[in-house]
Amino acid sequence: MAHKAQYGIDAPGVIRNLIVIGIILYVLAIFVLPRFDAGTWILYVDGAMVYTGIFLIIEALLMIWYSKYGKLKHRDRMLALYSFSGHEQVLDVGAGRGLLAIGAAKRLSDGKVTAIDIWRRQDLAENTRDALLTNARLEGVVDKLVVIDGDIVKTDFPDRHFDLIISNLCLHNIASHEQRQKACQEIARVLKPDGVAIISDFKYTAAYSKNFHDLGYRVEKVGTYIFSTFPALTVIKVSWPD
Ligand SMILES: C[S@@+](CC[C@H](N)C(=O)[O-])C[C@H]1O[C@@H](n2cnc3c(N)ncnc32)[C@H](O)[C@@H]1O
Repeated sequence: MAHKAQYGIDAPGVIRNLIVIGIILYVLAIFVLPRFDAGTWILYVDGAMVYTGIFLIIEALLMIWYSKYGKLKHRDRMLALYSFSGHEQVLDVGAGRGLLAIGAAKRLSDGKVTAIDIWRRQDLAENTRDALLTNARLEGVVDKLVVIDGDIVKTDFPDRHFDLIISNLCLHNIASHEQRQKACQEIARVLKPDGVAIISDFKYTAAYSKNFHDLGYRVEKVGTYIFSTFPALTVIKVSWPD
């Protein structure tokens, strides 16, 4: 059993495909194509394949680096955007193995974090509620967590229940624009009027911002972090206008 919380490798299938295709392109370009004497065009194809292969492998390595180190820093950056009193009801949407949920729980006294997820293995390696609970035990916050199997598109949470809603790299996994819009509406429904939602993703953040804006919320784009996350993550902060 691990002695330290492990928050998992994001999109393991994507990383595997990048490495496999990258290696195939590289090997073909270095060992196979040079055997053909088909004129100068093949030199261009060969060069393009070498660089594409190397590019794909570097992308895969950057994704692994983010999963192992970058996301810990990103979690701290996201949680620093909110001033915790310690009494909050917090919701982590797409909690996975508990990266944000556990980070938030450590900042609570009598508050609680609800972690909701559908535990898709293609989004995060070894993604289970047990993995989250094991991490929470290792970090000493299991009593501050409520873990729910559920889809954020439709939940049973009461209206206006959460002071803080946090979500990292979850909403883009929802297949259609309409369903992602419903997820934003659900987040808005369960957020307290004076609550805050902090949402991070690598795409569709402009659409989420528009969804919340259309619902009357103030949306602030906090930043896009191209050097410390991969793929580059954009964070938005959603709150009710003063
Ligand atoms: C890339 S993982 C990120 C996990 C965690 N937030 C982190 O940053 O380590 C995305 C998570 O979103 C979850 N997820 C995807 N679609 C969801 C949905 N409709 N409702 C709830 N969770 C969902 C996946 O099961 C997965 O745990």
